[in-house]
Amino acid sequence: MDIKKNKEEFIELLCSTGRNGVDDTIESLDEMGFFTAPASAGHHLNTEGGLVLHSLNTCRAALAVWEGMKILEPSIAGEVGRDSVIIASLLHDVCKADIYVRSVKKRKNAIGQWEDCEGYKISYKNFPMGHGEKSVILLLCSGLEMSDDEMLAIRWHMGAWGINMNSYEDQRCFDTSKKLYPLVSIIQAADNLAANIMERTGEELDEL
Ligand SMILES: [Fe+2]
Ligand SMILES: [Fe+2]
Repeated sequence: MDIKKNKEEFIELLCSTGRNGVDDTIESLDEMGFFTAPASAGHHLNTEGGLVLHSLNTCRAALAVWEGMKILEPSIAGEVGRDSVIIASLLHDVCKADIYVRSVKKRKNAIGQWEDCEGYKISYKNFPMGHGEKSVILLLCSGLEMSDDEMLAIRWHMGAWGINMNSYEDQRCFDTSKKLYPLVSIIQAADNLAANIMERTGEELDEL
């Protein structure tokens, strides 16, 4: 994985939106460790630089979904702008930048013996604010200007997995966001396509 190249591409895409606050946001992401963090502790892209690659993959998938949906449903062109697709997809998982801590884990090798391997464990102690909602708050604190649909697409990008099913308010807000703003469904789909199609590995398939 070329971490430097991925970082440059991420910054170039984000800056292409011309959005107020982008420079300060990039500085905050650097300070948080966003550009070196993995995308997960034990699943997709669980290596250094995984988070920025996952964010780029989600952006590529989101732009492809957006282009495709404009053909199927031309009104989308007026409802969702390219800059919003880029902002929401690249920044949906900013919440993960500060939760992974390097650790040594045990795993069985090919002949069944336990051995040490480098890995990550998760700690939420820096800012235990949740997932999508944490991303939105971190971005606002870094000074990024965002529209309602961008904030809601980031907040609800986990779809039904990010909802407290005991909360009527959560369910209604999620449903309302999806109906009001097509960007919410585009980012949710793109995140799923990135993690489960673009980033799946042979190892993951073997474990099924
Ligand atoms: Fe996420
Ligand atoms: Fe994600």
